[in-house]
Formats: sequence, C-alpha cells, structure tokens
Amino acid sequence: MEVKLAEHMGFCFGVKRAVDTVYEQIKNGKTIYTYGSIVNNEEVVRDLAEKGVRVLETREELTELSEVGQEAGGSGAASPASVIIRAHGVPEEIFTILQEKHLECIDATCPFVRRIQKKAEEESRKGKHIVIVGNAGHPEVEGIIGWCRGPVTVIKNEEEARKFQLSQGKKVCVVAQTTFNYNKFQGIVEILEERGYNGSVVNTICNATEERQRSARALAAEADVMIVIGGKHSSNTRRLYEICSEECAHTYFIQTLEDLCLELPKTARLVGITAGASTPNKLIEEVQNYVRINF
Ligand code: F3S
Repeated sequence: MEVKLAEHMGFCFGVKRAVDTVYEQIKNGKTIYTYGSIVNNEEVVRDLAEKGVRVLETREELTELSEVGQEAGGSGAASPASVIIRAHGVPEEIFTILQEKHLECIDATCPFVRRIQKKAEEESRKGKHIVIVGNAGHPEVEGIIGWCRGPVTVIKNEEEARKFQLSQGKKVCVVAQTTFNYNKFQGIVEILEERGYNGSVVNTICNATEERQRSARALAAEADVMIVIGGKHSSNTRRLYEICSEECAHTYFIQTLEDLCLELPKTARLVGITAGASTPNKLIEEVQNYVRINF
C-alpha cells in the first residue's frame, strides 16, 4: 500500500517563521511571552508552555507586565523578558505599549500581513475609507484595523457589501484578510463596484491556503483513505477535512497519532495525508511513519 503526502500542507511560511523565532529565543535563556498563541495547535502550544513560554491573551495582561526583567504581577524576577508578536500581527497600539514599558519586542508578523497593515495605514492617511473583506474579530483583522487612521469597515459577505455605507466624500481602499476565500472576495468587490464606489482594490489573499486546499482535493480524489491532521479548533483544517470528505469516503480527522484508529478498506491501495496550516512537520512525520509501518 502506498502512502502519499499532499504537495502543499502544514505550516505556511509565516507561521513557520514565527514558531522558529520562538524556539530560537528560548535558547537565549530569556523569559518569553507570546502575544496570543503563536500557532493554533494545542500540541505546539503545550510544548512551548513546558519550555517556559507564556501566552499573553489580552491587552490587559500585557499592560500588567512590568518593565524589562520583571514578571507579570511585579515579582521582579531577574531574567530579561521578550514579547513575540505572532504571524497574524497586532494593532499599532500594542507596539506603543511595549515601547512605553521598555519591553523587548520581537516582531514575527508575517511579511504578507505587514504589507496589508502598511497599505491600510498609507491609504487611510490619504483620506480613504478602508474596507477589509474578512471576519470581524479575527486577530489579523483586528490588527489591520489598529493601523488605520480613519474610517474602516469589515465586510464578510455580499449582504454586508450591499448595506455598506461609505463615509461622505471618501474613496475606498479594499483589502482582504489573507485567508479569505477568493471567490467570495470577488463577489463582494463586484457588489461594491456596482454600487459605484471609487477607489482601489488590493487582493491581499495569501495563496498558501488555496494551495493547500487544491493539493488536498487532488490527493483525496485519487486516495482510498485520507488522513487530515490538525487542531480541533483550526478552521483551515476543518475546511481541508470537508474538501477531502467530498472526494474520498474514508476521510479521518485527527489531532495526534493517538486519535488514529484506522479501519482500512481491504481494497485500499493509496493512503493520502494532509495537514492544516498549524500542524508541525514532526507530527506529520509520526503519522506517516505509523501508517507505513502498520499497514
Ligand atoms: Fe501564512 Fe503569512 Fe500566508 S501567515 S497564510 S504565509 S499571510
């Protein structure tokens, strides 16, 4: 029986860069904080916690951190502290707080996300109304909002696009959340154009998501069994699972190797494996080796 991996899967460039940054900083013996979980995968977060990395969940937790070398709550521990910004990015205000508190900041914002933040900042300085096509409340979207200098609206579907009210006398600048679906983005842009809004549209969707979905579908179409590895709460893994299930009746969603209890159809000749954008390579290899050895 053959085991085949999807051509594109697992950590995208930005997440890998951020996770590598955390592991590098651990080696320096500092107290490491990440602003939000560095990646949406419980296994990785647990491993980092065991290595002493702490997660700051809110702006309030950050403001409670004392100056360099101190711990939250002001106990005054001696080791220097660094705060790592994750790939999704943060509002500008967070950098200001870090600066005011003289905390070392290591910015692991994905360069593709940073590009959107810069665009939103520049265009809103020029007086444009920024439209972010994406999901309100998502950390990346919240981050982009935090770089805008004027009116900003988040639109997630065509209905919201029809209701959108432009600030008087303004032009729009439309950008997208990096993981947004391209067809939905196009549909929303068309509605805004039909409604006669002037301005610019910048397609800022990252192709990492689409590449992963395309290669998962291609592999699932030829596989007898598909294994999708990823975090329970990871929406991109869930989407991969849905896509694979459409193509392959024997599709399994697992978080770790322990979840894997395969019942292979007797005729199974090809097992395909794919993984969500927050799944580390180590885990993919474990699953792959297990299937190769046991079946
Ligand atoms: Fe990943 Fe950066 Fe794209 S975080 S999904 S490579 S925008």
